[in-house]
Amino acid sequence: MRVLGIETSCDETAAAVVTEEGVVLSDVVRSQVEAHAPYGGVVPEIASRDHARAIVPVIREALARAEMKPGDVDGIAVTSRPGLLGALLVGLSAAKGLSFTTGKPLVGVDHLVGHLLAVFLRRGEAEAAAPVPSYPFIALLASGGHTALYRVDAPRLSSIRELGATRDDAAGEAFDKTAKLLGLGYPGGPVVDRLAATGDASRAKDVVPRPLAHRESLEFSFSGVKSAVMRHVATLGKAPEGQALADLCAAFQASVVGTLVDKAVRAAKVEGVPRIVLAGGVAANRGLRARMAEACARQKIALFVPSFASCTDNAAMIAYAGALRLAAGEADDLALEPSTKTAL
Ligand code: KG4
Ligand code: ZN
Repeated sequence: MRVLGIETSCDETAAAVVTEEGVVLSDVVRSQVEAHAPYGGVVPEIASRDHARAIVPVIREALARAEMKPGDVDGIAVTSRPGLLGALLVGLSAAKGLSFTTGKPLVGVDHLVGHLLAVFLRRGEAEAAAPVPSYPFIALLASGGHTALYRVDAPRLSSIRELGATRDDAAGEAFDKTAKLLGLGYPGGPVVDRLAATGDASRAKDVVPRPLAHRESLEFSFSGVKSAVMRHVATLGKAPEGQALADLCAAFQASVVGTLVDKAVRAAKVEGVPRIVLAGGVAANRGLRARMAEACARQKIALFVPSFASCTDNAAMIAYAGALRLAAGEADDLALEPSTKTAL
């Protein structure tokens, strides 16, 4: 089965063709980052307009790279939730049009389910033999819009249970807001990651608290870390520069990453499931990957980390999640509606 996936929930216009085994035949991602950067965050109206401009060329390219015509696909999967309503509508309308004209089944996918299953994607030779987790597994999903821990018993909505989520900012949001405070542009996660690698967290550890909230709880809270950086910048009168900036980034990242790692390991223990899967844009963070690998090795937990391309927003994960729904005999009709909320 070869499924076309379409993703327009936020600021990436993406299309991909993937098999139900997770083999990625094509994967096109067109980022809108440059359009939103001057505003320091995603502007919904700009996102919708940009998706409308990009959607047809992006779908055309994904099909061409897979050497397929629209009628060659076995189904059309599209992100129907959660996301910006106007942005979702563009992908959904394109998917409905394709389904209507080709007669191929339409299947809506929850963006978060896509992230949780992205670890199963196989991109080329290198990933063909990479180990994949068995079910159940614990997933840490950390992106710009969501941060939560899940227990995934099977690849379908009804078999995924949230164990704890953030009470305020998502981890990626904390990275982006902190980067903005430090004058590092948007999106700031990758920049903070780069600077943190040259910094010494111990030299700024008094500035940034460790947001442990309740040790027992599996909930997160990241707004305090961001506020601490804000107070520090206010005291200095400006953002630090040079080594002091790198040290602050390192301390901020160590704090956020430390919490993510602690809670994920705790979830694995509480659930008695010795398998952790990383998901979402923040899973691209090198500090998180390194700390999580250390902690899992110590605790004898198997860790599964998707490739960078599978962590950040893409349509391959949507196509794969959709292919599994189709393989299970599920589909949606053309009345499928978008929603700003996840179904998880
Ligand atoms: O999953 P994603 O592409 O989009 C959402 O669904 O939100 O995640 C984007 C988020 C942004 O907040 C971005 O700053 C963050 O992931 N991010 C990172 C890194 N790469 C992307 N955060 C920390 N370190 C990174 N290397
Ligand atoms: Zn996402």
